[in-house]
Amino acid sequence: MARAHLGERRGRGQAAVLIVLLAVLAGVFVWKFSIVADPIRQAVQDLGLSAEEDSESGDPVSGGGYDGGLAKEGLHIADRLQRRPRPPIAKPDPSVVEERCGCALGDWCGRYEAQTPIPAKAPPLGDRQCLWGNDTTAQCNWVGVCDGMMGWCRCPAGWNGDDCSRRMRRPCSQAWRTAGFEPYQEPTDPGKWGLTLACTDYCDQDIAHCYCNETFAYGRIPADPGDRPGTPPKRPGRPIAHYCRRNTGWDGKKSDFGAVNPELLYGDKGWCVAEEPEYRCPCILDGVGGSKCEIQHEAFCPNQCNGHGECQLGFCKCHEGWWGHDCAYRTAGTPWTPGMEEGERPWLKPFVHTPAAREPAEGATRRRPLIYVYELPPMYNALMLQYRVAKDDCTHRVFNEQNESYTPFLWLYQPETGIHEMLLQSEHRTLDPEEADYFYLPVYASCAIWPVLYSNDFPYFHGGPAAQRTHGATNMFMEVQSWVRSHFPYWDRNGGRDHIVLTVHDEGSCWLPAVLRPAIVMSHWGRTDVNPPAGTGYDADTYSNEVRHPVWQPEGHLSKLGEFPCYDPSKVTYILGGRIQPENARYSRGTRQFLANISEAEGWWDKYRIHVGAGSPPGGPGDYSECMARSVFCLALMGDGYSSRFDDAVLHGCIPVIVQDGIELTWHSLLDIPAYSLRVPQADMARIPQILQAVPQEDIARMQANLAKVWRRHIWTGYRPYGEQVKAMLAERRQSAEQYAVLSQPAPLADYDPAEDDALATLMQWLYSRLDDLGAHAPPPKPGAAPKKAAKAKAAGSEEDEAAAEAEQFRLKEEGAEQGAEGGKEEGGAEEA
Ligand SMILES: *[C@@H]1O[C@H](CO)[C@@H](O)[C@H](O)[C@H]1NC(C)=O
Ligand SMILES: *[C@@H]1O[C@H](CO)[C@@H](O)[C@H](O)[C@H]1NC(C)=O
Ligand SMILES: *[C@@H]1O[C@H](CO)[C@@H](O)[C@H](O)[C@H]1NC(C)=O
Ligand SMILES: *[C@@H]1O[C@H](CO)[C@@H](O)[C@H](O)[C@H]1NC(C)=O
Repeated sequence: MARAHLGERRGRGQAAVLIVLLAVLAGVFVWKFSIVADPIRQAVQDLGLSAEEDSESGDPVSGGGYDGGLAKEGLHIADRLQRRPRPPIAKPDPSVVEERCGCALGDWCGRYEAQTPIPAKAPPLGDRQCLWGNDTTAQCNWVGVCDGMMGWCRCPAGWNGDDCSRRMRRPCSQAWRTAGFEPYQEPTDPGKWGLTLACTDYCDQDIAHCYCNETFAYGRIPADPGDRPGTPPKRPGRPIAHYCRRNTGWDGKKSDFGAVNPELLYGDKGWCVAEEPEYRCPCILDGVGGSKCEIQHEAFCPNQCNGHGECQLGFCKCHEGWWGHDCAYRTAGTPWTPGMEEGERPWLKPFVHTPAAREPAEGATRRRPLIYVYELPPMYNALMLQYRVAKDDCTHRVFNEQNESYTPFLWLYQPETGIHEMLLQSEHRTLDPEEADYFYLPVYASCAIWPVLYSNDFPYFHGGPAAQRTHGATNMFMEVQSWVRSHFPYWDRNGGRDHIVLTVHDEGSCWLPAVLRPAIVMSHWGRTDVNPPAGTGYDADTYSNEVRHPVWQPEGHLSKLGEFPCYDPSKVTYILGGRIQPENARYSRGTRQFLANISEAEGWWDKYRIHVGAGSPPGGPGDYSECMARSVFCLALMGDGYSSRFDDAVLHGCIPVIVQDGIELTWHSLLDIPAYSLRVPQADMARIPQILQAVPQEDIARMQANLAKVWRRHIWTGYRPYGEQVKAMLAERRQSAEQYAVLSQPAPLADYDPAEDDALATLMQWLYSRLDDLGAHAPPPKPGAAPKKAAKAKAAGSEEDEAAAEAEQFRLKEEGAEQGAEGGKEEGGAEEA
């Protein structure tokens, strides 16, 4: 029933989908983005209904994994639903519109700046303890961190349960697993390819990391079994990481999972034996470096644990009195104090910024939208970082041995941790969900897809090698939605429409479960057809394959996806110069291969000065960035889905020529993309030279002028460390204007503020503009509502009336002053009845 209903809903309008990208500009990474906003009003109505159906027929979500113990507590919260009055959103400020809203579609732009700021508020303090016994130091079994709001523990890798007392092992295995639904069993099929967490030596079963055996001088000696949980090993030992595994088992038989001669590891000069070994294994875990893995350095955690916790491979072990994913929360009685970034660890300073955690100054104000970042179980984010194979996976920044930060260029999905961090640090963040306008779900699904699920973790997010990595990610998102819905009232309050999810993997949100479609989906791959088959060149990502299991999944996997277009971009694209992947014909749906062939065969470079391929054109100097900046047109072709080419072109002042049928680009619904780009149908690829030659000079000039208006919205310079980098780049460019004369974009501005109108600001401006359209003003779905068509027509009218009435009420209330939330609650309650 629920299923059919979901399918029906699709034709009538989805919730918003945004698009996010990442790319590289002149040696620095760049993130970008786009949005598709669709009829939102309708979605609420529909959603409300389907949410009800879902709960009638029982919880449709059957994920495994984390069972928070206190689950379901919040399921029937109808009587707790209360809406706060919201001020009506501001009208666009004409001067902002004039100066800063070039190419904006609709009337979203210029409103945010015109809003009346609201009073700042002190963050809520936690007053619950996680006591099983009365020793507060033993809370959470010494390893976890107590959530002072919920009274349960956040547990690091190796532990689980409300009090972190349950052991959660991640064993090393010898090979790729064959069983997906069934419990973990080893050994598994050695014939399968893949990254395995093989280890014939000492396996740290918290995270499945391999070390030299303790029988050797540089082997790992674990803590004594009687020591309390979390005790560090007596000797850390040298790791034998993935790329360093022996090619022979202890039994002397050839093993299938390694290549290294055991002599190099265990011989007299071996890695595990000699003080100065002749052979060195890489130190791939975050936080460990040096030529012998002997140096401890800072590891990546989002917002660096607010300076009030120890970052353990991605998990924040907060100091006494502080708690939460990034240790932003305090328990009652703990005063706000600056963190270690102001004291013993100055290198943390650029990465710690938590306005939401501070006590506000007298008379301080804030601007909406207010965003609450969910404190999800670590299973869905921090644990992925702890399970990642190498430090350069899964993050947008990493520290080196000197605790200097760098960008892991080969990690394509940087917005996953990046946007999470931006929101944790945002002035728009609130620690109090009750006052939030929006709710962000920080799920590290791309990290799960690679490397975590690829390294044998299928039991956690049921999928199985019989399925694909993306199947596991779909299940992960379903679990998260189910968890959020059963632990907090906020999903049901607005049918999920004020929730925000991010999907950054290649084919974007194509595999997002139907239950999350009501939410705002930030993605990067604007594929618009409904339920498209996977277009990937990588088998493991074929989300459209069906997977059934007689016991665990008789209804099949695809039923979870519902029927939706993905509206989402693809990935690819390692840094400089696009990859053509001639050996992988499915990659980029063949567009890159086709153009490379024909341009070569017809001599496009000599005849038209059109270059298609990796590297510079023949005899043409300059790297990727310079070539782009010097070009009038730049091809924006697909990768394995999304590619950053479009945004790269925009940032270089080069007119993008989009060759991606049925795919929308960054900020599609917010900016007038045809005003600064061209589209060529895939069928016309062979005629690209003629098409481009026919573009009139005035059109070129107009599009270039428009690029100058929009480029900032295509780059995440509102992220402070990155904004500083770009600012420095522009300053440098101003000083050497002659050298860079060919570069048309970005224009070197003297008073450049990286946070103004960048991608992050654009997102906030847009979120603000649609507050009116959110359920904060919408009526809750009524049981037994009229048939859908009628309901739809009625809803449009009544909602408007109601919005007007509510604005009036708010005005009156403001005039009556001071009642604020209290009065609002009553009114909200009455409205419900
Ligand atoms: C509680 O703490 C007191 C000392 O503060 C100790 O004597 C007592 O044994 C503890 N009780 C339990 C159940 O741990
Ligand atoms: C350590 O190595 C020896 C062989 O030298 C092996 O028998 C033993 O099982 C290993 N111990 C562990 C903990 O791996
Ligand atoms: C880097 O940070 C770690 C963890 O805070 C610290 O132990 C180490 O001494 C620092 N190294 C340097 C070179 O500052
Ligand atoms: C490109 O050319 C090669 C060899 O000439 C051919 O094998 C391949 O199929 C062509 N690819 C496309 C997409 O036309």
